[in-house]
Amino acid sequence: MSGIESLQKSFELYFNHRHFPLHPKSLYDPLEEFLTNSGKRIRPILCLMGNELFGEIHDDAYHLAAAVELFHNFSLVHDDIMDKAPLRRGKPTVHSVHGEPTALLGGDAMLVVAYDYVNKISSSYLKDVLRLFNKTAKEVCEGQQLDMDFESIDHVNMEDYLEMIGQKTSVLLAASLQMGAIVGGASEGNQQLMYEFGRNLGIAFQIQDDYLDAFGDPEKFGKQVGGDIKSNKKTFLMIHALETASGDQLEKLEKAIKENPENKVEQVLEVFKVCGIDSWADELKEQYLQKALQNLDDIAVSKIRKEPLHALANFLITRDK
Ligand code: IPE
Ligand code: IPE
Ligand code: MG
Ligand code: MG
Ligand code: MG
Repeated sequence: MSGIESLQKSFELYFNHRHFPLHPKSLYDPLEEFLTNSGKRIRPILCLMGNELFGEIHDDAYHLAAAVELFHNFSLVHDDIMDKAPLRRGKPTVHSVHGEPTALLGGDAMLVVAYDYVNKISSSYLKDVLRLFNKTAKEVCEGQQLDMDFESIDHVNMEDYLEMIGQKTSVLLAASLQMGAIVGGASEGNQQLMYEFGRNLGIAFQIQDDYLDAFGDPEKFGKQVGGDIKSNKKTFLMIHALETASGDQLEKLEKAIKENPENKVEQVLEVFKVCGIDSWADELKEQYLQKALQNLDDIAVSKIRKEPLHALANFLITRDK
């Protein structure tokens, strides 16, 4: 069974080549650069592990690993436009360097190349994979729309938040695992458990992403710390603070949101801390990690084969970037 690093390396060997034509340079060179720029490659690793749980890794799992990574990178380039993000993976975002038209077209081109990879797999499961891929892509769009809508809605509750992150983030992790399982010849039941494992793990993963956006180390995180606060994202931190802050703290929070002062991030972070966000974050992550691990336990495969997925799950909720 292969661990995180060895799968990361073998994926890199497969993926690290030019994906786009040479011309027009102004469209394709930024994409080539973006794709080689130190992403964690979590979704490809999930796809490969999802396959290896049921047997030896098949070439088709590499094709699908490339497809999910390209889809993910497309969604990041468009997400950074939507979120007005200045930094990604420690570098200026594609749209901030090359302009929004190039970032939009570049994202589109990555999505199309993702489908070229899907098209390489055996026709025996192409239809099933495409159905899953398309359902996932639509759900990501829906989740992203909710995320944007929530910026200007005052009252978003935890249930709304969990629905939104389930769609914008979890379904892609879940589908990556299920695609690996499909290639591995897993039964319907085991495929569904893999999907549920990814759904729950993805929630814990986005909780950690939102936590790092507020409290990450700017040196390691690679994105602008405080970006979610600046754009009034309804993360669990904000929802929890709005629900539990009282008196002066609530006033301070509402004032910062309404008036957008120079030191908004600082002000909001202070309230988050007073509200005990650290232990709330740990509790929430743990809750979804446990659900995910229960799904993994239920898969009818020997325990030892599940170890890499266990290790990956733990890494995802403790990572610092
Ligand atoms: C960032 O995903 C976007 C989210 C869904 C939170 P990753 O944290 O996997 O980003 P990279 O690919 O490693 O940069
Ligand atoms: C993005 O969520 C999810 C997708 C790209 C679909 P975020 O907006 O929190 O991701 P980051 O923090 O910019 O990576
Ligand atoms: Mg976003
Ligand atoms: Mg973003
Ligand atoms: Mg984020």
